[in-house]
Amino acid sequence: SGSTPNQKAGTVERFSSTGFILAAIGSSVGLGNMWKFPYVTGKHGGAAFFLLFIVCLIVVGLPVLLAEMTIGRGGRGNAAVSFYKLTGKKYWSWLGLVSVITAFLIMSYYSVVAGWTLHYTVESFTGLLFRSGTDFKSKFELFASGYMPLFWQAVVMLVSGWILARGVSGGIEKFNKILIPGFLIILLVLMFRSLTLPGAAAGVEFFLKPDFSKLDAESALIAMGHAFFSLSLGMGCMLTYGSYVEKSQSLGKATLAIGFGDLVYALIAGLIIFPTVFSFGLEPGEGVGLAFMALPVAFSQMPFGAFFGGLFFLLLAIAALTSAISILEVPIAYAIHKWKWSRPRAALYVTVVCFLVGIPSALSVGGVLSSFVIGGKSIFDLVDFVTAYILMPLGGLIVALFTGYAWKRAGEEAGLSGFWYKAWMFLLRVTSPIIIVLIFLYSVGIIKL
Ligand code: PHE
Repeated sequence: SGSTPNQKAGTVERFSSTGFILAAIGSSVGLGNMWKFPYVTGKHGGAAFFLLFIVCLIVVGLPVLLAEMTIGRGGRGNAAVSFYKLTGKKYWSWLGLVSVITAFLIMSYYSVVAGWTLHYTVESFTGLLFRSGTDFKSKFELFASGYMPLFWQAVVMLVSGWILARGVSGGIEKFNKILIPGFLIILLVLMFRSLTLPGAAAGVEFFLKPDFSKLDAESALIAMGHAFFSLSLGMGCMLTYGSYVEKSQSLGKATLAIGFGDLVYALIAGLIIFPTVFSFGLEPGEGVGLAFMALPVAFSQMPFGAFFGGLFFLLLAIAALTSAISILEVPIAYAIHKWKWSRPRAALYVTVVCFLVGIPSALSVGGVLSSFVIGGKSIFDLVDFVTAYILMPLGGLIVALFTGYAWKRAGEEAGLSGFWYKAWMFLLRVTSPIIIVLIFLYSVGIIKL
């Protein structure tokens, strides 16, 4: 070992051990935690769903997370080449290439949403957003129908590309070390604000009151799918980050830290969102409607709302940016190796092409391309659907099967032996593949519950 295909100049790119944990948590904590998780939890039985989610995280999420990082570190290469280096079989790198393409496609629309959060951050702090009597639904629609989203998407791409051009320790690690603690502080300030609002208890109750009667097969599949998405699995992210980890670092401990971090952030996000929503008598929803239409109403009515609203959107923007960096790194690492480009050059080219590919997504949410619909879906929804429901499960399945069956020395690289190794292998060989296939069949509508 010692040599790496990731660097042209022959210098080895590595994370420090805390830098790696922070970067991986930055990747896993994203828009999924902030606006999807709280809502599905509230809707599917509160604390009962939360417990179910913890089980899914342990049974499906963590084994695949460990497998991805182990492949990356063992192969010391990007999401395609690592598979090849570990087995000497070419077809595995073709299968790994699926992840690289998935990451590229995800970035093309994730950057759009990340751009919206930046626009809203700026509008909040400058006071433009919270004028009295604003109809936030039309305000968002007006924004999305124009060309401003393109500008903000470009900003996100440029910032991510610039950070990645600086490299692993001077870019990814450095910015996560600044952003994650900042994120934590904002999170705590907002949690304190929301929990002290009048009527906050009703929100906490909606989010966490256990109702085991709401748990069914459907909630189980949703919990599993979300465990997967939330840990950034199935698209080469954790694999690529894993390739920059020192041999001396324990991947088992890293897996636990990342899983725990993801869970805690999801919990706090719910404790911010629901008390705020309920305190102002609003409807709890999810996604775009929740973040850009409902919550601004609450912020516009509370004292210092522009400040707290600004903090909230800044929180979303940081969550999105630290995830976006990890997504864009997947194709950049691939390009550096494949075309022997320097890192800055690879970062520039990949960023520009990804931005161009994302333009149709940016213009299809209420914009000029919104009437262009394929199979009942706008371009944005289509890219989201194909990546999240088809390509990511496929990528996860490839990782589980590769580690479980094809690569014989995974246990050694992961530092597992005895009971833990056997348990890990059982989960990767049997449980994860079955569950991933079930999630896939459910989400494309082949099995109905
Ligand atoms: N895990 C991120 C979230 O919860 C999303 C993500 C998916 C990030 C895939 C990177 C890769 O929002």
